[in-house]
Amino acid sequence: MCNTNTTKSKQYLSPVAASTLANTYDDSCSSDNDGVPTPLPASPHSSAPPSPRGSVIGSLGDNANISTATATATTTTAAAKKASSSLLAAHDDDDARGRLRLVSKINYSRREGDDPYADVRERMEALSLRDKSRHVYHCQSETQPQDDDDEGSEKNNFMVATPSSHHEITIFAAITTYLGYVVLIVTGHIRDVCANIFRKGRYFRSQSTTATTPNPPGHYPSDDFTKYAPLLKSWENFYTRRLYHRIQDCFNRPIASRPSAIISVLERVSFDGNKTMSVLGKLSNLEDEKIALSYQMGQHYDTTPDGRVVRKCLNLGSYNYLGFADDWDVTCRKDVMGSLDNLPSSVGSSRLEFGTTTLHRRVETIVASFVGKEDALVLNMGFNTNATIIPTLTARGDLIVSDELNHTSIVNGARASGAAIRTFRHNDASNLEFILREAIVYGQPRTRRPWNRILVVVEGIYSMEGEYCNLRNVVTVCKKYGAYVYLDEAHSIGAMGPTGRGCCEYTGVDPADVDILMGTFTKSFGGMGGYVAADRRIIAELRRECAGSAYHNSLSPVVCQQIISSFQVIMGKDGTLIGSQKLNALRDNSNYFRMRLTDMGLHVLGNYDSPIMPVMLYNPTKIAAFSRECLKRGLAVVVVGFPAVPILMSRARFCISAGHTREELDRALKELDEVADLLKLRYARSTFG
Ligand SMILES: Cc1ncc(COP(=O)(O)O)c(C=O)c1O
Repeated sequence: MCNTNTTKSKQYLSPVAASTLANTYDDSCSSDNDGVPTPLPASPHSSAPPSPRGSVIGSLGDNANISTATATATTTTAAAKKASSSLLAAHDDDDARGRLRLVSKINYSRREGDDPYADVRERMEALSLRDKSRHVYHCQSETQPQDDDDEGSEKNNFMVATPSSHHEITIFAAITTYLGYVVLIVTGHIRDVCANIFRKGRYFRSQSTTATTPNPPGHYPSDDFTKYAPLLKSWENFYTRRLYHRIQDCFNRPIASRPSAIISVLERVSFDGNKTMSVLGKLSNLEDEKIALSYQMGQHYDTTPDGRVVRKCLNLGSYNYLGFADDWDVTCRKDVMGSLDNLPSSVGSSRLEFGTTTLHRRVETIVASFVGKEDALVLNMGFNTNATIIPTLTARGDLIVSDELNHTSIVNGARASGAAIRTFRHNDASNLEFILREAIVYGQPRTRRPWNRILVVVEGIYSMEGEYCNLRNVVTVCKKYGAYVYLDEAHSIGAMGPTGRGCCEYTGVDPADVDILMGTFTKSFGGMGGYVAADRRIIAELRRECAGSAYHNSLSPVVCQQIISSFQVIMGKDGTLIGSQKLNALRDNSNYFRMRLTDMGLHVLGNYDSPIMPVMLYNPTKIAAFSRECLKRGLAVVVVGFPAVPILMSRARFCISAGHTREELDRALKELDEVADLLKLRYARSTFG
């Protein structure tokens, strides 16, 4: 271990900074990652060309190989065939040819045309097929348990998808997790009581003296904040102060680069025991030269062009699924920057007024044809799309049946609609059928009149579970009972299916059977905003009635161009194979990473072919420890705790990208293997982790 002489000066630093300081420079230290610094190596990424950095199946430039591999890997749909033929046909354009040459050159130089996963390809494809057949086609496999709970024979109609990743929290983890929260809450209350008794503390606000002294001019008794009911809810206030602040360095990390595979995370410090965090800025802000030196010698140390200290990390947390943040200069820059020549960055108006440009209409036409609907409406925020479209579609007298793990934007939209809300067990079509049948039999409460409309809301990929939707069965149940289907494809559009058309394509469901297709451009498309696609009649109505569209400034034309450019790449309309390479790379990278994490004995949630990989941490203390250990090792990860997930279900969530290379993923896996040992996370192997 290295000697660290910085204990005193460490005190004001955040735990992250402190962990950097554990890397205090010492000649005797080795260059391994055991808290030991190494001189900063020339970053292999700093000069990396802005190119698709992901993998490909088979030979890169060979269309035949791509289609063969795609055919073996996935079900070849008519849409896939159509897309690949348009891909082959689109080579006329000179500019496109130039780009294709550039990208191929870059790819060949990185990969030499090989399949980077050749050694594990067979196993990866088998695992993917296993999950798909269990979860999408619902084949009865030998390993699938029989259903024998309360709905009995109901379940035989719609076999509950039993994801291969279904993990129960171990009894030891459950007990220690509860214990962890008890200790944190009791300690927090003791500190609050002590602060009140001694009238001193980080969060103690002294009372004004209005009760005993006359008011100075201009002051009113009501200026005494103690006379008000607290604006912030007391439990949430307590939770923020005594639990969240302890680990807030793990959240809201500011970045100073694109959210590409390698990301620059700005270094932060805290001068008040993590109550507030500040960006460290330049190294000269540090008074102690030794600390400054320790930063400089850190393995992942770097600076922004204006000299601010950053950590160069492998990005495992952004929704950069198709890697547009990595190759933006090649794929989108020209058109996006060009759009600024003719159009402003904001149109300064809502769609109802002067907020529609040709680019808005182009995005809508492309989206509609991409997802297989007659028309689409684009809104400037994905969250808003759910929060304002659902209330436009439903009202009092209607029933919304929502998956219990649906995103908060859906929950907000459902609550705002005034409709009655029921939830069904996550991804469980049998339970959905049970709820629908009951709702139809009993009708509306009190009056017993039939529901005007029933809307079933599900997601393509569940963002905290990494699981895809049991869409075929959901659609079958909804058809049987005459309920409308609303599918949120925020994470699945562009990321799932042979041509990126999302959950319908992946699960083989006809888009005509899903009444409302919703999605966002913030994930796979590197843009902003959301869309809703449906029949022309419905979209026309939504265009008029939806408050989020009619009364909100419309999407920036620059963002529209980003969306159009990324769609052209995905659909192969730019005349290159970049889109299909990205889709293949995303699938390969995701499946490889999932396979290796599972091999490590971690509790990994979700399905193969999904780019989201939650890894269970359970214990609240492991949330911060995991995040800090990863940051120390140059991995930027997202950790999630209560209330975003149930209290026992804290997790880390990896988002894999087409922009990752196998080497990067291998490095991450090596580091994660160490962290898993350190934090005892191998719950699939031992009840104690
Ligand atoms: C399922 C789902 N729907 C909607 C949204 C909101 O999308 P946006 O972030 O684009 O506003 C998200 C965000 O991650 C999501 O996960």
